[in-house]
Amino acid sequence: MNPQDQVHQFKESADFLRKHFDHPKINATIVLGSGLKNFEDEIQNPISISYQDIPHFPQSSVQGHGHKLVLGQIHNQTILAFTGRFHYYQGIDITTTALPAWISAFLDVPTYILTNAAGGVNPNFEVGNLVLIKDHINPSGLHPVRGVHLENWENPFFDTSNLYNADLRNEFLTIAKSNQKKVSEGVYCFLPGPNFETPAEISMLRTLGVDLVGMSSVPEALAAHKLGLDVLGLSVVTNVYPTNDQPKVKVNHQEVLNETNKASATCRGLIKDWIQTW
Ligand code: HPA
Repeated sequence: MNPQDQVHQFKESADFLRKHFDHPKINATIVLGSGLKNFEDEIQNPISISYQDIPHFPQSSVQGHGHKLVLGQIHNQTILAFTGRFHYYQGIDITTTALPAWISAFLDVPTYILTNAAGGVNPNFEVGNLVLIKDHINPSGLHPVRGVHLENWENPFFDTSNLYNADLRNEFLTIAKSNQKKVSEGVYCFLPGPNFETPAEISMLRTLGVDLVGMSSVPEALAAHKLGLDVLGLSVVTNVYPTNDQPKVKVNHQEVLNETNKASATCRGLIKDWIQTW
């Protein structure tokens, strides 16, 4: 199916959800990365729906990723949580990996919060660190809005100088500081996986000034920004790659899940405290 027809289907999914949720205003979307799924427990008066019950939604199948949408309140703000995302490495096409951004835009949600587990390329990072994405590099050659045109788009091109909204980042950093929690900022590189990076790739990424590497988020962030949403991206560092003079380490998915579970309480707390200031 061509990207334009896919977007037409996303519109149908959003129309279905608007009726299902029957809620006048949604303040923010949050997409929960590996291990952060339990954030949904923070949502009051939840209404949830399984992805399989939403027209045109693909099924997510990775351990540690959820399969449902939850709408409800956090500190009187209405939040739409995607408990699992759609990854290119699962065989899902690049247009569909940005589905949460499309649904959010069609439901007029203004703010898009994405969370993920990422590998630490910056050797100063430690496992469990929280890092705000301040910018990204996308060497994949893949783009979520390639071949898509909306009536109100003059052309396909768009500025990305403030993709990861500086005001939102500053608000979040202020909350972290007042809670005495360490949150850094970094550049995230999207590599589509499913392999974790080779040592040569890690040394290339370090040369390029990359701090974090992961297999998600960038397609959604690009689409969300093109669609006019303000984006905040938060990574949990689940593994840190050794430098050339350190022994090699193996990365595995279970370790990624364990580490995000440990960091998730801090992450949950900060996101909730931030929402409280809205
Ligand atoms: N590489 C890519 N994706 C990841 C990693 C990593 O090292 N850790 C968690 N997600």
